[in-house]
Amino acid sequence: MTDAKRLAGEKAIEYVEDGMVIGVGTGSTVAYFIDALARIKHRVAGAVSSSEQSSERLRAHGIEIVDLNTAGPLQLYVDGADECDPHRRLIKGGGAALTREKIIAEASEQFVCIIDAAKRVDVLGKFPLPVEVIPMARSLVARRIVKATGGQPVWREGVVTDNGNWVLDVHGLAIVDPVGLESELNQIPGVVCVGLFARRSADVVIVGGETV
Ligand code: A5P
Repeated sequence: MTDAKRLAGEKAIEYVEDGMVIGVGTGSTVAYFIDALARIKHRVAGAVSSSEQSSERLRAHGIEIVDLNTAGPLQLYVDGADECDPHRRLIKGGGAALTREKIIAEASEQFVCIIDAAKRVDVLGKFPLPVEVIPMARSLVARRIVKATGGQPVWREGVVTDNGNWVLDVHGLAIVDPVGLESELNQIPGVVCVGLFARRSADVVIVGGETV
């Protein structure tokens, strides 16, 4: 699996063009992309990072971190996922970086998702769906999620996101309408971000060394 992640990270370099500021996601697959990017860092203008974890790795390689407000629209975003369906809709947030990831995905013209084969599913939901919440709303949001979905939200205790919020992981879902569920959960007061990337799905999916 490690090899598949490395191959996916390295393959994504093919989408990098000279002078780009690149949107960079979070996770163990993206770590390989960052390491590969370091080898051609003289060709890129910098990176907008989705997490402190990725920023640290980018900086260690001498790749400049650019603020999204300064960068404006991005041409390319490269990120991993926890699950990916045949329509390139994703569950993300296993690393608790979902909100910044969704912001950068939205700001980017092309979203290249890098995964290993174990992440491919027919129906999203086996991987518990992460939902970032304002801490004071944790219990309210959990009750609303139970009512709306029948799933079981579990508080990811001890985890604080880079935005100072908490994460609920919703177990027991089979998400047949990802766009509908994303919109519905987004309406609950206290929800900061739902880890469903369905409205803005990936444009390209690389599984191991292959673009599918
Ligand atoms: C981070 O919050 C997630 O969305 C990651 O994209 C995902 O967890 C990546 O998984 P890997 O570590 O397996 O690449």
